[in-house]
Amino acid sequence: MNQIIIFRTIADMRKQVGIWKSKNLSVGLVPTMGGLHEGHIALVEFAKKKCDRVITTIFVNPTQFGADEDLAIYPRSEESDCQVIAGAGGAAVFIPSILEMYPEGFLTTVCVSGLTDKLCGASRPGHFDGVTQVVTKLLNQANADVAFFGEKDWQQLTIIRRLAVDLNIPTSIKGVPTVRDVFGLALSSRNGYLDFKQIEKARLLSSVLSKAAYDIASGSDASFECAKVVKTLLGYGFDRIDYIECRNAHSLELIERADIAECRIFAAVYLGNIRLIDNYSIL
Ligand code: PAJ
Repeated sequence: MNQIIIFRTIADMRKQVGIWKSKNLSVGLVPTMGGLHEGHIALVEFAKKKCDRVITTIFVNPTQFGADEDLAIYPRSEESDCQVIAGAGGAAVFIPSILEMYPEGFLTTVCVSGLTDKLCGASRPGHFDGVTQVVTKLLNQANADVAFFGEKDWQQLTIIRRLAVDLNIPTSIKGVPTVRDVFGLALSSRNGYLDFKQIEKARLLSSVLSKAAYDIASGSDASFECAKVVKTLLGYGFDRIDYIECRNAHSLELIERADIAECRIFAAVYLGNIRLIDNYSIL
């Protein structure tokens, strides 16, 4: 297996990136919070196809968790994460401490207004400010050529694309398609909290959502289809629906009908107190 380098400091990572760049090797960055599953690994493998050297970051970023969220119990598995990253062809892992990322006196936030107050931003106030803060730092710290983010978190990907353009960050941002299990369930660290019965229900989400995307693409009304999805999921035993919405894929504005602009259907739903998100393209 690949010998993996572990960086604990920004200085060490920067030094190595400098060495790689001086040898004309391209560098890819895959930011994660660890607890890695096949979805994360697909990002590393995808990055390895595009870049000579891939750095995966593992940092459970406290600033993107709300007070009542799962920060304390978020899965942590540094050692096995490093092994799977090495197996996927990753060259290095950056595992900073909280103090390395947020030293005493740290005050700066990054706010991408507009894109962050809807969908997940509406129900998780402050969440995307934490994401933009840490991702801006990671992009600046690594100075990679390309950074890779999953389409599963489409709103996050859209916000990060915007901040990279707006702040002239010279790393290009690339989206990677959602990895699903054989039943279509989007892989997520939070799936591990679901019991067997909940997993069976969770697997219905993707089929209901992709069918609605197909019907909207065929000319059906977006709000009519979204309301139908809500009813169907509640009927299947989902405990709560945060949102089912169709939006422009880039501006994230609500749409009523599929048109020439790229649109997507977005979902956030609850099984017990586990929140699951997914989205599909409306083609
Ligand atoms: P995390 O939830 O660990 O996800 C890390 C990356 O993996 C994200 O880009 C996410 O979209 C991607 N990902 C997760 N599940 C996926 C799946 N099933 N298919 C494809 N990609 C998937 O997202 C975060 O961490 C954080 O917000 C982060 C960007 C690291 C900032 O802290």
